[in-house]
Amino acid sequence: MIDLQLPSEAPARVAPPDLRGVFELGDDGAYRRWREVKLRQQPTDVDALVVDVADPRRLSQAELAALRDRIARCNMAVYRSPVTAADRRLPLRLGAQLGLQRLDANWLADEDGISPIAVDAGRGDAGEGGGAYIPYTSRAINWHTDGYYHPAQRRIHAMILHCVRAAASGGDNLLMDHELAYIALRDAEPRWVAALMNDDAMCIPARQGEGGVARAAQAGPVFSVDAGSGALHMRYTARTRSIEWKDDAPTREAAAFVRRLLDGDTDGDTAGRFALKLQPGMGLVGHNVLHARSAFVDDPGQPRLLYRARYLDRVRG
Ligand SMILES: [Fe+2]
Repeated sequence: MIDLQLPSEAPARVAPPDLRGVFELGDDGAYRRWREVKLRQQPTDVDALVVDVADPRRLSQAELAALRDRIARCNMAVYRSPVTAADRRLPLRLGAQLGLQRLDANWLADEDGISPIAVDAGRGDAGEGGGAYIPYTSRAINWHTDGYYHPAQRRIHAMILHCVRAAASGGDNLLMDHELAYIALRDAEPRWVAALMNDDAMCIPARQGEGGVARAAQAGPVFSVDAGSGALHMRYTARTRSIEWKDDAPTREAAAFVRRLLDGDTDGDTAGRFALKLQPGMGLVGHNVLHARSAFVDDPGQPRLLYRARYLDRVRG
């Protein structure tokens, strides 16, 4: 497993970039300038994402600045704290300090909008077609961004995953900044980016419940630009069942490229995938980056428990 150490020298602070025109295919100049800065600022290993904090509920200005710095560079940060008590309000209090207010409470979340991610037969068995909702099982979760089955007005822009208890073995997270996936795709073939920005690029079929349609079919783009911030949003799942890609060559090629990129056999300088295992007191905070989870085995006396909060806001500052 990765030995998580802070780099001995803190990197220079990074200001949020000017995103005007960057994600328009007609404006290659803006894209090139942004790309150059982005790639130069990339951490090369997961250690550089980690920020030690005394208490995520009460961050110092320096801790807050360090988290914002990581998020500005690569849309995510990992905090490491000695707070191992099961405090459901911890993610909410952490999020509020980063400007995250509007929680997305999905129907499997509890009333406070927090989803306790643990093996849970009740939640795990409620899945599509009698299958399992994989987050609530011990199975691996394929690459995705959160809320890919949501409509446009419920885009998940940020998330917090806080570890209360780790699995006895496995349960590692794989992470990739979705902006790096965009760069790899645009550098390889701009037509593929155009294909994945179409409103009908990727459709999640309707989910049938006992009384009929429990969730309407959800078609939408993979890449879209947030109107308020100009930031890139990615809506993605690597699942191959219960998903319909637009049936044309650029979309098929683009989807295959993203798959190869995430599975690791695409060359280039944007390989930025990170692997880490969250330990008790640690958590992931940032935008809705690409992520996956390995299967795990629980200690029955100390089963894995993560609290997840998802937000319609982006990180502020
Ligand atoms: Fe997820």
